Amino acid sequence: MAETGKDITKAALILTNGGIVAIPTETVYGLGGNALDEKTVAAIFSAKGRPAYNPLIVHIAGGGELNKYVTAVPAVAEKLIERFWPGPLTLLLPKKEIIPNLVTAGLLDVGMRVPNHPLTIELLQMLPFPLAAPSANPFGYISPTSPAHVEQQIGQKIPYILDGGICSQGVESTVVGFDKNTPVVYRLGAITIEELTKVAGPIFLYNKTTDAPPSPGMLPYHYSPLTPLYLTSNLHDMVQNFLPSETGVITFHSHIRGYPDNHIVILSSKASIREAARNLYSALHQLDALHLKRIIAERFPDYGLGKTLNDRLVKASMKSSLIEKLGSLDDNQ
Ligand code: TXA
Ligand code: MG
Repeated sequence: MAETGKDITKAALILTNGGIVAIPTETVYGLGGNALDEKTVAAIFSAKGRPAYNPLIVHIAGGGELNKYVTAVPAVAEKLIERFWPGPLTLLLPKKEIIPNLVTAGLLDVGMRVPNHPLTIELLQMLPFPLAAPSANPFGYISPTSPAHVEQQIGQKIPYILDGGICSQGVESTVVGFDKNTPVVYRLGAITIEELTKVAGPIFLYNKTTDAPPSPGMLPYHYSPLTPLYLTSNLHDMVQNFLPSETGVITFHSHIRGYPDNHIVILSSKASIREAARNLYSALHQLDALHLKRIIAERFPDYGLGKTLNDRLVKASMKSSLIEKLGSLDDNQ
């Protein structure tokens, strides 16, 4: 079990000694460690069970520190920084040698971000090094948005969870790289395409089926609960096909009749997409813990933050569709 508390001095001490601490951010909790220390970075990969080909994001206290770690910042990146940092935007920029190759999985660009959480910013200001931090979940599982999620999933592997409460955004940062001066979105996230376009003009959306992968780490089965998850645009018809006693349902804002109360999560009864984002991973954690036969989730309107949430749900459901295709879905599990 990890200790959970709000003591940033304690967190700083563990980190300074090369240890790993779960840190709060506005998106999800991260597994933080000294990004400049290869041993610590290796320990993060191992605690998470993450393959070495999937790079980590480096967290800094403010944009002013960027030039210590990257060699160039395109003009359009400056604009994005001005508007969105601190905030849920990760920028892929050419790394300086001081960033170990292990952090970037051998890639030339490093993902940099300034998290918008007062405790973590204060912590970063105390430390003489930046923090490499992937989401604090075991590889492929749902990201944690509360200290309790971190404790359940990975508590036995780390000494301390810095308690910053529930994450205000609830989905990961948007990851943006650059093709010369044009932004390319590699991972949809808490900042929407529409918001980016307003500041940066036209942007590319990286398409994993037609474009070459920037890193082989962009696997489809992320964010998955252990319970098979199915995604539908027609929730009310879909739920008729299953026994309510063995099925969990996640809806955007509507209620479903005939299901036990604890099998239904309504993400935002006032139909706020921001509130739905904040509650989505929690809902997946909650229903997954019931060990039901399946979880049915409703597709969101496919724009703005809805696009990001659909992306996560599609990825979470891919494992189930694959298992089904291979014919090995064991109904007794
Ligand atoms: O909101 C977030 O970004 C959270 C919090 C803790 O900051 N972090 C997070 O980290 O989601 P992680 O490691 O779970 O996901 C990072 C994503 C991965 O899809 C990874 O492949 C991509 O960012 N990424 C990181 N560095 C990259 C790089 N140099 N080039 C391409 N993709 C990169
Ligand atoms: Mg992650």
